[in-house]
Order: sequence, then C-alpha cells, then structure tokens
Amino acid sequence: MRDSKGLPAGCPLRILGIESSCDESAVAVLDDARGLLSHELFSQVDLHRLYGGVVPELASRDHVQRLLPLVRQALAKAGTTPEELSGVAYTAGPGLVGALLTGAAMGHSLAFALGVPAVPVHHLEGHLMAPLLEDRPPPFPHLALLVSGGHTMLIVVQGLGDYKLLGETRDDAAGEAFDKSAKLLGLPYPGGPELARLAETGRTGAFGFPRPMLNREGYEFSFSGLKTAVMLAVRESLPDAQRRADIARGVQDAIVDTLVGKTARALDDTGLQHLVVAGGVSANRVLRAGLEASASERGVEIYFPRFEFCTDNAAMIAVAGLARLKQGGVAADLAIHAQAQWPLTSLRPPAQP
Ligand code: KG4
Ligand code: ZN
Repeated sequence: MRDSKGLPAGCPLRILGIESSCDESAVAVLDDARGLLSHELFSQVDLHRLYGGVVPELASRDHVQRLLPLVRQALAKAGTTPEELSGVAYTAGPGLVGALLTGAAMGHSLAFALGVPAVPVHHLEGHLMAPLLEDRPPPFPHLALLVSGGHTMLIVVQGLGDYKLLGETRDDAAGEAFDKSAKLLGLPYPGGPELARLAETGRTGAFGFPRPMLNREGYEFSFSGLKTAVMLAVRESLPDAQRRADIARGVQDAIVDTLVGKTARALDDTGLQHLVVAGGVSANRVLRAGLEASASERGVEIYFPRFEFCTDNAAMIAVAGLARLKQGGVAADLAIHAQAQWPLTSLRPPAQP
C-alpha cells in the first residue's frame, strides 16, 4: 500500500544515503522513527596525499570500488534488507562530476531495482541539515554559517529548500584558505586539520595576517589575499619550528576572526535567535569556541553537527533526502542527476515546483 506521495503506508520511512562528491565514499541508513541506524565511510585521504590534493579520476575509480561494499556493510550494521528501504538518496552535486556519477548511478539503479524513489540531494543542503541528526535539532528560521573546502556562506534558512544567501566568499573558501596555507607550511594533505594542530603551539599575535572585508559593510568574505601574506611569512621563517607554528596560529586567528565577525553582524542585523554552523571547517575547535562565545553574548542558540558529521558523510545526505522524501515532490524519473555546479539558492522547498 502506498500513500498519496507514493510512499509505503503504515511503516516508518527508512532511507539509504550515498555520498561520493569528492574524496569520501560514504553510505548511511536512516529510519524516520528510530533515527540513524548505521553510517559507513571510507576516506581516500591516503590515496591523494601523494599528490598533495584530490586527483579527480583516482577519486572516481576508488568510489566505484568502495561504494557497493559500503552499501552492504551499512545495510548489515543497520539490520536492514534492501527491500525494507523506502528510498535511496544520493549526492547529485555540486562536486567532482566523475565522482558524483559513481554514487548517483549506484543510488539511482538501486532505487530502480527496488521500486522506490531515488532522491538527488544537494551536497550543501546535506551539510545544512546535518544538525537535524542531533538530539537538539535547530528550529527554522535560523542563520547558517556554511564553511567547507569549496564554500563560505552566510544563509538565512527559512526551511528545507528555502535559502536566502546573505553573503559568500568572493574568491577562496575558508577551508581552501586553511588548505593552501597548510601547503605553504609544508603540511600534508588534508591541510586544514593539520594546520589547526600546528597552531596549538603557535603564539597569538606573532603574525598579524589581514582580516579582509571584516570592516567592510555586508556579509562577503575574501580569503585569497591570505596566501600571499602566508607565502612571504613562510619564506622568512622556514627552518624555525616555533615561527611556523606562529604562522599557523596567525592564519587560523585571521580566518576565525573574520568568520566570527561577519556572523555576529548577520545575527545582529537579522535578529535571528538560532545559529547553525556546518561544513568541514565547523570541525575547527577554535572557530567553534569563537562562535559559541559570540552567540552566547547575544543570547543566541548555536548548533553544530557532531564532529564526524562536519566533514563529508552520508548521514547528512540521508537526513536531507528523508526530509525531501517526506515532504513530497521527489520526481519519479529515470534520469541520473549529477551536476558539478549547482547553486544552493536554485533549490526550492519540496512542495513547490
Ligand atoms: O565539508 P568538507 O568535508 O568538504 C567539502 O564539501 O568541501 O570540508 C573540507 C574542508 C577542507 O578544506 C578541510 O581542510 C577543512 O574542511 N577542515 C578543517 C578542519 N577539518 C576539516 N579546517 C580547519 N580546521 C579543521 N579542524
Ligand atoms: Zn562537503
């Protein structure tokens, strides 16, 4: 029996989520009544480290090898048979198109074989919805700071698919600024967490890197100038371990100050009482502490995904997919959706065309 939205009537929805937009292969099973039943992830970090960054073709080939075993593992750990699934959600973009296609083809084929809806999910909507997996989910509307390897955005989130972009980066994303600075410091890929680790022993204020756009009106960011400043500082300081740590500290302070400052402005201007912080850079502890202090000064409630769901994962794809499935409007077509470029603001709430 199926209801008016074409979903199985009577039993709670159970969805499989697949993520393959970059260098993590991940699969999760989420049940509407019982919550997250399993989440499996294989990181390709070791594969790409040799090259100092993600090699798209290698990423795609590795996803092809990893995804099916991960699907089997996730289903087994969830104690679920494929027939018990009510839908399959997969990341449809933005991301590396070859990598996206591997998960999209698998997700869509699986859904077709099982006779259930395939739900193409926007990767950033996944990041934004990741805090819904926690015990204290954020209410709508809220302000979201989305900080990942490819994006830095301040967004008013009215609801699922209802996003008003206040401002974004004009050039490099915050994660990219972490990664490029880390590379200049000779740290291994992926640079963000490595730089954060080195910064722990650095001294605040030893290097005063620019906080671009911080004093300018509006909510835009610009991080590309940072790498030139870091390059010059590295050239002058290299063999000295303490100076390198000081540079790392200076970079992190500059990025964190800028993100915290602009987010505070957006909170003050919008009057929103709830702040979500999502995307890979939200795993940064100094950023978390800075935003927590700023939110608490304003009496604003702050929400983060748990650490493992800050960076790419399939649980966030399952939760966004389940929300879309529940609200209807998932097209029953056979097309496999994979888009390298896909603006978040082109999304619409599920009920609207
Ligand atoms: O969301 P994500 O996993 O992938 C994208 O969708 O881009 O974000 C990855 C980014 C990378 O730039 C990585 O260096 C950064 O998040 N990142 C961090 C930390 N953990 C991950 N940056 C700073 N501190 C961290 N602890
Ligand atoms: Zn991501």
